[in-house]
Parts: sequence; C-alpha cells; structure tokens
Amino acid sequence: MPQHTFTLNGEQVTVDVEDDVRLLWVLRDILGVTGPKYGCGLGVCQACTSHLNGKAVNLCCVPVGRLKATDQVTTIEGLPATVGKPLHPMQEAWLEQDVPQCGYCQPGQIMTAVAKVLQARAAGHQLTDADFDQIRNICRCGTYHRIREAILSAQD
Ligand code: FES
Repeated sequence: MPQHTFTLNGEQVTVDVEDDVRLLWVLRDILGVTGPKYGCGLGVCQACTSHLNGKAVNLCCVPVGRLKATDQVTTIEGLPATVGKPLHPMQEAWLEQDVPQCGYCQPGQIMTAVAKVLQARAAGHQLTDADFDQIRNICRCGTYHRIREAILSAQD
C-alpha cells in the first residue's frame, strides 16, 4: 500500500493507505483526529473544513495521494491559542457569542472563519458582511446570526 507523509497540526505523520482515500477518512479513521466532521462527503456542507497550507479546504474532497511531504494540514485541534488563553481568538469569540446549538458544524464554521479573516488581513482589510455572505458552511440549527457576530467581533 502507498505511504503518505505530511504535517498534521504541527507534527509529521505517515499513513499507509490507497491514494484515493479522502483526507477526512484518513484523519478520522486512521489518525483519530475527529474535529473535522462528516456531513455530505461531497464538498457541499463544509462540515469537514480544515486548512491545507493555510487555506480552507473540504477534507472530504482531498485524496490523500494529492498531498506532498511539505503540506501542512491543520484541523481545529491544531489552531494556535491566544497567548495566555486556552483557545484561538475565533474560538474565544464563539464562546462569547454563545454560538453553538447542536455543535456539529462548528469546527468547520470556525476553520472557515479563521481562513477568511487571515485572507482578508493579507489583503489589508477586515471581513465585511458581504464576505460573510459568501461563506457556505451549512448549520442545520440556523446559528448564522451568532456566527456572523462572532466572526466580526473576533476581528476587533
Ligand atoms: Fe465535506 Fe460535507 S463532509 S463538505
């Protein structure tokens, strides 16, 4: 079976698995990293959103064979904490806004939000309501209003 090496949440990992197995299953079933959730498996719901080299991706759509040894995969478990606090600023904002209901989609929501904020910062601006409207993560509980408030407050 082919071997695949990449960095996951700051640590190098190697897995023996067929090239076409999606990264979501490699992480959840082989490596035991369960922050990224399975919703649709088709790149629609965004529940599995994590970062590949700093960009938001749907892990259910990424075959492990596409990864290079230099690739950095970050899940919600690997988000860096604020200095002196246990969580990333986006997670702190999530708690302050009391966002989750069932919670299932929230890791993907947070990972998308972090990537969007970083992307906006790199372009020299803050996320706007219009940027928020382009986020496609589905929340069956309908917590969108609080998600928006959390994202916008995390930028302050
Ligand atoms: Fe990956 Fe739905 S499970 S987008």
